[in-house]
Amino acid sequence: MLETLRSVLRFRRFEVDPVKRRLTRAASVADLRAISRRRLPGGVFDYIDGGAEDEIALARNIDSFRRLEFRPRVLQGVGESDPSTTLLGAPLAFPLVLAPTGFTRIAHPEGELAVARSAERSGVPYALSTLGTRSIEEVASVSSGSLWFQVYVWRDRGLVEDMVARAAAAGYQALCLTVDATVIGRRERDVRRGFTLPPKLGLDTILDGILHPSWTWAFARSEPIKFANVTGRAVGDGTDAVSLAEYVNGQFDPELSWRDLEWLRSVWDGPIVIKGIQTVEDAVDAATEGVDAIVVSNHGGRQLDSAPATLELIPPIVDAVGDRLEVVVDGGVRRGADIVKALALGARAAMAGRAYLYGLGAGGELGVDHVLTMLDADVRRTMALVGAATVADLNPSHVSWRQST
Ligand code: GLV
Repeated sequence: MLETLRSVLRFRRFEVDPVKRRLTRAASVADLRAISRRRLPGGVFDYIDGGAEDEIALARNIDSFRRLEFRPRVLQGVGESDPSTTLLGAPLAFPLVLAPTGFTRIAHPEGELAVARSAERSGVPYALSTLGTRSIEEVASVSSGSLWFQVYVWRDRGLVEDMVARAAAAGYQALCLTVDATVIGRRERDVRRGFTLPPKLGLDTILDGILHPSWTWAFARSEPIKFANVTGRAVGDGTDAVSLAEYVNGQFDPELSWRDLEWLRSVWDGPIVIKGIQTVEDAVDAATEGVDAIVVSNHGGRQLDSAPATLELIPPIVDAVGDRLEVVVDGGVRRGADIVKALALGARAAMAGRAYLYGLGAGGELGVDHVLTMLDADVRRTMALVGAATVADLNPSHVSWRQST
């Protein structure tokens, strides 16, 4: 009897560290999103989680991954799959780039530093946002991994030139020019909540703060959240809380055009990636302009609503320009299987922002590690299950579209 009991009652060792304990119970990015939702104030969670207007593009990005099913090949003698690849000539441990996200410190005080360290440990590039809350230099000082710098084009070109020079001096490997945000999308969750950046602790947020004590305590104890890359410049550095729409619409140049790419080339020697391509025509123009890579992206459904689902754009875009530049896809990536699907359709790599932010909100740097470890393992397992030993083995015959999910 005792023997039988002993054989079934094997307790899991109690994890004393509360963060690790929380993360151990998260089996997926969706679980980390649920934890973030509980831990972060509503306005902060909604800023990260939400999209523009009716959130049609946001939902479609995710749905399109569900609509693509695998056609697994068995008995391929695959053995252990190797998910490593290269992008812009640099090695990637698996085909993922961590997307630039603004105001990362609102999810956790360590913010971009935690993400950069975790990306380096996982062997994937991290793109720091112009609207980062840690500076170009601070991020470079904690990572010798592959770093990209994401550029928004301010009306003040001197400011952009300055940032680009700083990124070059700090050893960033690529510039990522975001082209889908010359004006900011209408994120109605933020409008409803009157959300500002940095978040204001007003009367309406005090209750939210009380309900989320660990975030509030960490936020109150850490140094103020600022747009770290423009600190001290006349354009406003985030010291005063503003709505993102107010800030972007006042500072970014709505007349951004291909001519600005020429200008960017004159101030930056390295590879240039254009993020926010959503048509074959623009992908062809990007190839004609000689850019090194494009990110097919609708800004995670945060800009133009009813934008095309990015995964569905991959086949025609790769068909048109795949031999002239590298194609990365962004939007809706929540699992390693999603990365494998993007590659099967012809993308070189996938990009994800929310996936790691949910990890950051749920458990700081350990949370980001948890996400990247899961995605890496997912990619390996999925490749093995579809019968691909290397990323070069993945091809469109491994997937097919369903009419519905
Ligand atoms: C910033 O780029 C955002 O999408 O909020």
